[in-house]
Amino acid sequence: MNLWPPELKQLLTPEIRVQLLTMTEADLEAVLAIEQTAYSHPWTLGNFKDALKAGNVAHRLVAEEQLVGYFVAMQVIDEVHLLNITVAPAYQRQGWARCLLQFLCFWSQTHGASCLWLEVRESNAPALNLYKSFGFQQVGLRKDYYPAGRTTRESAVVMSMPLKA
Ligand SMILES: CC(C)(COP(=O)(O)OP(=O)(O)OC[C@H]1O[C@@H](n2cnc3c(N)ncnc32)[C@H](O)[C@@H]1OP(=O)(O)O)[C@@H](O)C(=O)NCCC(=O)NCCS
Repeated sequence: MNLWPPELKQLLTPEIRVQLLTMTEADLEAVLAIEQTAYSHPWTLGNFKDALKAGNVAHRLVAEEQLVGYFVAMQVIDEVHLLNITVAPAYQRQGWARCLLQFLCFWSQTHGASCLWLEVRESNAPALNLYKSFGFQQVGLRKDYYPAGRTTRESAVVMSMPLKA
């Protein structure tokens, strides 16, 4: 099922067929191919399977039948925690991550959430810029949260954004 909310449909160009679809286990091979090109420390197949089994919200963005990107998020009562958002390198810097975030806001609001949370590597400038420009604010720092090199670790910037009632 194509899940675009009416507000977002207006942002899309009519010439390109864009779909927002739920992610299932059948999609994981294509998802993993992007994941492995996009991260130094990608999620494994097991991570995705566990995330889907746990009932998290997971959607993929498909343009002209090509997988462009995806996100996975977890709702806990009135908070939604973004666990993964990725755009395939060939499609980056074209506004797709913003589209995914706008859809996540819409989904979260319609499921009773009042704020979004996420963690991001301190060195991930593209993602930090994306989140700040979207309206997230830093609310904390988790020291040595992520593995970095073979023996080093990297801090996570914790960010949140309130959602309109
Ligand atoms: C971070 C990521 C999701 C952004 O996806 P994207 O589709 O390229 O982002 P958008 O085109 O929607 O960009 C929105 C804004 O984000 C910021 N941004 C995105 N890529 C950027 C880059 N390479 N450098 C600096 N800022 C960047 C900009 O502010 C941009 O707005 P602008 O283009 O008007 O300047 C993508 O780079 C990615 O998948 N990276 C690898 C996975 C990852 O790090 N995910 C986040 C984990 S927390």
